[in-house]
Amino acid sequence: MARLAGGVALLTVLDPVGRDCGLTVTAVSSVSLEPPLVLACVTKDGFIHDALFVADGWSLSFLATDQLELSHYAARERHPGARDDFSPWPTRRAARGELVFTGAAAAVECVPHSLVDAGDHTIALGRVVSVAQDVTGVLPLVHVDRRYYEPGPEIT
Ligand SMILES: Cc1cc2nc3c(=O)[nH]c(=O)nc-3n(C[C@H](O)[C@H](O)[C@H](O)COP(=O)(O)O)c2cc1C
Repeated sequence: MARLAGGVALLTVLDPVGRDCGLTVTAVSSVSLEPPLVLACVTKDGFIHDALFVADGWSLSFLATDQLELSHYAARERHPGARDDFSPWPTRRAARGELVFTGAAAAVECVPHSLVDAGDHTIALGRVVSVAQDVTGVLPLVHVDRRYYEPGPEIT
């Protein structure tokens, strides 16, 4: 699957006591137009996982090429008790409180649709309730073969 090129998203949610959580994810897809559904596959080991079961909203910020450090930060290994501090990056609050990264190439706010048990991951399906109009990122960050790239020249 490392050969499947894809965008890099930051999944954000508030934990049950209102603390910010964010995880770098590439297992993300659009699913349905009517209703508008997207999915993210989240490891059951991840610190963000359990928050998805209680949150009333979560967001996906599709990272831009100048947000590589943010991708590294949200993919770091977190020991129990570790907290996220996203203050170095420009953000705003989604309608349900989680962070949206305004430097992203695109972002969507979701309300939970369903959670599907899938081996060592859970597939979180969300209904898109808002598409960000205020993001400033230009080129989407691409991940393939365990490396990051920026989109190259169009080929025809
Ligand atoms: C480029 C990239 C893509 C990733 N995609 C996913 C993903 O789709 N789903 C997931 O659960 N974890 C994904 N991860 C792993 C998490 O971001 C994170 O590294 C891992 O869960 C460890 O964090 P934890 O200590 O909070 O569990 C990805 C990591 C990187 C670097």
